Amino acid sequence: SPSDPDLVARARAAKEKLGDKVFVLGHHYQRDEVIQFADVTGDSFKLARDAAAKPEAEYIVFCGVHFMAESADILTSDDQKVVLPDLAAGCSMADMATAEQVAECWDVLTEAGIAEQVVPVSYMNSSADIKAFTGKHGGTICTSSNAKKALEWAFEQGEKVLFLPDQHLGRNTAVRDMGMSLEDCVLYNPHKPNGGLTAEELRAAKMILWRGHCSVHGRFSLDSVNDVRERIPGVNVLVHPECRHEVVAAADYVGSTEYIIKALEAAPRGSKWAIGTELNLVRRLANRFAEEDKEIVFLDKTVCFCSTMNRIDLPHLVWTLESLADGKLVNQIQVDPETESFAKLALERMLALP
Ligand code: 13P
Ligand code: SF4
Repeated sequence: SPSDPDLVARARAAKEKLGDKVFVLGHHYQRDEVIQFADVTGDSFKLARDAAAKPEAEYIVFCGVHFMAESADILTSDDQKVVLPDLAAGCSMADMATAEQVAECWDVLTEAGIAEQVVPVSYMNSSADIKAFTGKHGGTICTSSNAKKALEWAFEQGEKVLFLPDQHLGRNTAVRDMGMSLEDCVLYNPHKPNGGLTAEELRAAKMILWRGHCSVHGRFSLDSVNDVRERIPGVNVLVHPECRHEVVAAADYVGSTEYIIKALEAAPRGSKWAIGTELNLVRRLANRFAEEDKEIVFLDKTVCFCSTMNRIDLPHLVWTLESLADGKLVNQIQVDPETESFAKLALERMLALP
């Protein structure tokens, strides 16, 4: 939908007034009306790196979700302030692993006599608490663009991996990229005693997958893939690794949001693509590449936007920028120093991956 011209003018004026004091980051799932004001756009990995690359900016306005803003706060200096335009922009997947549940899981692994062999690998899409747990126990963070490297690193450190909180990214990476079998993976359910697993099952597993998922990507199904192949002969199916295993197994290409964009940039004229990721990004790509005669469709029309990503809209961005321009700090995301120090360990291990 076209942005309100009055709000566009106000956002522009406030941003101009702030000048170099503000740096606006935009995740690829953000609305068009917001992304037009981003100084840099990217996937979770790129934005984590870029947040730390502007030490002169007093305010980092993060147009994305809460865990991304937390990570930016952890990676930036103490005098830089990270701001999330709407504090209700969370992530249902990140909420699926709480600090208490993960501590309990570690007790279960200890009880089964395997904690010493386990290296935690946590997806970026997790709270700062979970990242701190990961750092404390010798593990690393990963994103969808470096999950394979993170797992390779982890299996050099120990014999087993506890992968949090996205079971799909964990399973897809283990099976598709690391040559493991589905039987090497077990699913730890935080709502069941002992995760719903016996000590024998835990001892036999290589990958202990947390039972979390993305509510958006989890809705693409094998039928979505089969239907689009029938509808559009010759279509290339390109999906995000947060999709379920059977969807990823049936797809032609799999990768992060940044990978998806690059793949479409490199695609030949006249090619046809069905994309399984968040709708704001797919629509933007469909519009952008229509001129180059690349046909881009959404993998499944019944799937909708990420509702929390969509919470960041132009009115929230205008309010944020105008407040900051008036010298009023709003919606700061601040991780406490104890959590930050351990979470930073885990994030820095990720940034140091080859
Ligand atoms: P990437 O941008 O790293 O592919 O992550 C997708 C996502 O779900 C962010 O919430
Ligand atoms: Fe979380 Fe999924 Fe939304 Fe990404 S798309 S923020 S993983 S709910």
